[in-house]
Amino acid sequence: MRPDPLFSEATLSARISALASEIRRDYAADAPVHLVAVLKGAFVFLADLMRAFEGPVTCDFIAVSSYGSGKTSSGEVRLMKDLDRSLEGRDVIIVEDIVDTGLTLSYLQDILRAREPKSLRTACLLSKPSRRKIDVQVEYIGFTIEDRFVVGYGLDFDERYRNLPYIGVLDGQG
Ligand code: IMP
Ligand code: MG
Repeated sequence: MRPDPLFSEATLSARISALASEIRRDYAADAPVHLVAVLKGAFVFLADLMRAFEGPVTCDFIAVSSYGSGKTSSGEVRLMKDLDRSLEGRDVIIVEDIVDTGLTLSYLQDILRAREPKSLRTACLLSKPSRRKIDVQVEYIGFTIEDRFVVGYGLDFDERYRNLPYIGVLDGQG
């Protein structure tokens, strides 16, 4: 089954370039910005966002699991892979694929803030505000979407579809 297209490659590319400029403008031109991508879903977004970035930029990866493999998270978040480097004194941006209930990001923001970065912000490609359980702060959002289950461009359903170059809707399929 081919998921119904929601955002094409061209749409994603244009929005991500605009987002990179928007983010960069909020920091001094020569300030190194450290992107922390949340595995696995955010790796494709990170790759495009980072290449659209001007000025000094570095990245690191963290992995969390929210238990369960279906279309809803259990709400219990666990750290699966930690960062390689310290965040102390850095301008850090968490890069995430999608904010749904907000539980994952809220957990990540808490543990990363405790590492004393100079600043901590969050960039999400997608947001489903109608599903929010925690009012988590997300400074940069690519697209706001309805309560649909989306895949592609890094996002999966049971580890499938991450390789789709576009974002599609999987509602009612599987
Ligand atoms: P939250 O903790 O409920 O905000 O869930 C965030 C995580 O759930 C994301 O990082 C995704 O891994 C997953 N997720 C939420 N909605 C979707 C979706 O529509 N497609 C694929 N994964 C999703
Ligand atoms: Mg994820």
